[in-house]
Amino acid sequence: MGIVLKEISKSYDGRAVLKNLNLEINQGEFHVLLGPSGGGKTTTLSVMAGLTEQDSGSVSIGSRDVSNLSAGERKIGFVFQDHALFPHLTVFDNVAYGLRVRRIKGHEITRKVEYYLSKVSITKEKGKFPHQLSGGQKQRVALARALVIEPEILLMDEPMSSLDAMTKETVRDELKSIQQEIGVTTVYVTHDQNEAVLLGDRVSVLNNGRVEQIESPSELFHHPKTEFVARFVGIKNILNVSPIRINNHEAAVLINNDGMEHPIRIRVKKYPIFEKGKEINLCIHPEKITLKREEETYAGNLNRIRGKIVKRTNNGNGFMAIVDIGGTTLHAISSDFKVHENVWVCFAPDAAHPLCGKKCREAEQQRKCFVTTQVDRLKTEGC
Ligand SMILES: Nc1ncnc2c1ncn2[C@@H]1O[C@H](COP(=O)(O)OP(=O)(O)OP(=O)(O)O)[C@@H](O)[C@H]1O
Ligand SMILES: [Mg+2]
Repeated sequence: MGIVLKEISKSYDGRAVLKNLNLEINQGEFHVLLGPSGGGKTTTLSVMAGLTEQDSGSVSIGSRDVSNLSAGERKIGFVFQDHALFPHLTVFDNVAYGLRVRRIKGHEITRKVEYYLSKVSITKEKGKFPHQLSGGQKQRVALARALVIEPEILLMDEPMSSLDAMTKETVRDELKSIQQEIGVTTVYVTHDQNEAVLLGDRVSVLNNGRVEQIESPSELFHHPKTEFVARFVGIKNILNVSPIRINNHEAAVLINNDGMEHPIRIRVKKYPIFEKGKEINLCIHPEKITLKREEETYAGNLNRIRGKIVKRTNNGNGFMAIVDIGGTTLHAISSDFKVHENVWVCFAPDAAHPLCGKKCREAEQQRKCFVTTQVDRLKTEGC
């Protein structure tokens, strides 16, 4: 079954947390809700589960409107961030709990519990109490407890946040394959973009109580619609520009990011979205920028901006130079320069492209939109 939220609003003490939120999750989908702290992710899950009552709007599971059903009447499995295991019950009894509440027969309980304990590889620990388990084991028990009721929808609220990196990787891979095998519609909350990429069939980015963009991970990273989404998925170089002259193929635009001492004029490819004087955000991927020493010559076709190296970082995949261009910074892939060195920041007019969330129609432009971000290191997909 899929789950649909229509025009959901929720306020606490007069403060709107969800604002006419719409979200349609397909049957069998692994859907990731990504967003910053306080963005309303837990509240959204809670409304889906019936643990929080929305002020307005509706929740449907499949073709059934469940808005007026209690949590117990919705067939939803919930994995909480802190596992929320019952401390006085063994692993077996924790997993069996939901079935006992539903008055399932004893032998059926044993069969189902054994099946899901083995599915999450925790059978050996079934006699232990939660305080005798590691974080990863608790996570598996919580997952088995949510799955054993064979829910229509599985909701998971930052379930990996307390695990170390290695355990996280193992549990995450297992979770993905269990979900694919069982095919249960899953909504998974995280603020970790790597998890979103690795787990999600689609990702929605929640900001300030609304879904800002909903997309496949690859599309989200390659074609973010807004500056918020772009920054949230780790895109570094965002230029706030306004076109001052537009001709057939190119536009002259002024970069005027917050904090800049004065606007800088550059030439960029003309995009249909451009309008004279109308501000728009462009991004330039670090590998599209070439840094040159002050005395070096450069091909006349490139944009050239004076800058100073303010920082160098190494993320394990190579060096990144961070260059101040007069009140705002740009990231470029380079190991050749020292901090405080003066440089020219050079890039071709077609290196910058708008954050419009639209796919480029031309194959050549699609190629140019290709972004080397986290997503490309994790999955080798182009756009
Ligand atoms: N029961 C509540 N009473 C009052 N305010 C609440 C309640 N639950 C949530 N809020 C507020 O609603 C906003 C959204 O909270 P929510 O827990 O949904 O965010 P979140 O995206 O899950 O954040 P995090 O990533 O930190 O878990 C926050 O400002 C929070 O303080
Ligand atoms: Mg939360």
